[in-house]
Amino acid sequence: MRPALLDHVGRLKDDELPAYVYDLPALREHVQAIRAALPKRVELLYAAKANSDPLVLRTLAGHVDGFEVASGGELSHVRALFPDIPVAFGGPGKTEAELTQALDARVERLHVESEQELRLLTSVLGDRSVDVLLRVNLSVDIGQVALAMGGHASPFGMDPVQLDRCLNVLAAEPRVRLRGLHLHLASGLRARNQLRLIDKVLDWARDWAGQRGITLAEVNVGGGMGVDYTRPQEVFDWAGFGAGLRPILARHPHVRIRIEPGRSVTAYCGWYVSEVLDIKFSRGQAFAVLRGGTHHLRTPAAKQHSQPFEVIPDDVWLRPWDRPQAHDEPVTVVGQLCTPKDVLARRVMVDRLRVGDRVAFALAGAYAWNISHQSFLMHPRPTFHHLDDAEVPAPDPYVRQMS
Ligand SMILES: Cc1ncc(COP(=O)(O)O)c(C=O)c1O
Repeated sequence: MRPALLDHVGRLKDDELPAYVYDLPALREHVQAIRAALPKRVELLYAAKANSDPLVLRTLAGHVDGFEVASGGELSHVRALFPDIPVAFGGPGKTEAELTQALDARVERLHVESEQELRLLTSVLGDRSVDVLLRVNLSVDIGQVALAMGGHASPFGMDPVQLDRCLNVLAAEPRVRLRGLHLHLASGLRARNQLRLIDKVLDWARDWAGQRGITLAEVNVGGGMGVDYTRPQEVFDWAGFGAGLRPILARHPHVRIRIEPGRSVTAYCGWYVSEVLDIKFSRGQAFAVLRGGTHHLRTPAAKQHSQPFEVIPDDVWLRPWDRPQAHDEPVTVVGQLCTPKDVLARRVMVDRLRVGDRVAFALAGAYAWNISHQSFLMHPRPTFHHLDDAEVPAPDPYVRQMS
């Protein structure tokens, strides 16, 4: 944890815990580095589903080419904050109301998931028009990844053979303009694997379009750039990714590439901070019970990993009994929920952990608070804090909503 952040966390009052702290200057630096690493012909969208905190979005807004949203709710949220920013609307199961909303909101792209969805879109067009990408589930070997959404039977996108039926629908409806294809096949890819996949995808897309006499203006190759929760210092190799994209782009001179990462953009800027309420030993094993738990930070339960953390010692102990503590031993860090699944980190070695010490979980800026089962057991919600950045004005109503 960098000193400015540690200082901020140290100044949180006890009754503000658990707390989410977002380091906005670090986020801005990170997204600038991502942007700088990418060739000009690559457009960078941020997948708002990873974290749609208004100040996080505001920090990113000047550095990305737009936002990818995956529901009418996300679309309203983003449009309320940024009336003019380009928005791509993707995701399965769009309703008739959501498609109408997308047209009214003038989304820049609509990612079509199926023939049914395309037909539904044409039925609500009225006098409007829209640019679409067809989402494809290509049969490629994705390899070992954290989460595969394609490459095998899946509800996401269309098998290549189903695309031709969509072309027939499009031929009869010129107000729905086909700009290209969309493929988000996996999450948790390393740069080298991501490049190998993009290479295959673009070759396939060129052949597919060539055989049908279609000019592909763009291919959105999705997100999925990996975050290594076992090595929080090791960030996705954006420089290597950008360098590797250049020769691929040179082989496809007329196509624009879009990426839409989420996790790898915001994971690093978020911290979930709490305090140790109890240290217990059961059958010789140490357990630290924290204020809060996976109802605030579901990431470790969802991904079945130990969330990396730092201990921030608090030396003040005013109780008239010995302070419970663990020393030089593995500790399982749990929350306050009545379920054995409420585990934030399992048997992680600590030098010392005492009741009253603070614990700050790293990599809590993506798929963390917003994917958590927040109402389970009706414990208080965390408080939210943003490490200040003079360039990021606070949109008050949203900040209040989040707290
Ligand atoms: C269509 C689509 N695009 C982008 C993303 C973002 O993926 P990630 O956060 O792994 O970069 C997702 C995540 O599920 C997705 O479904």
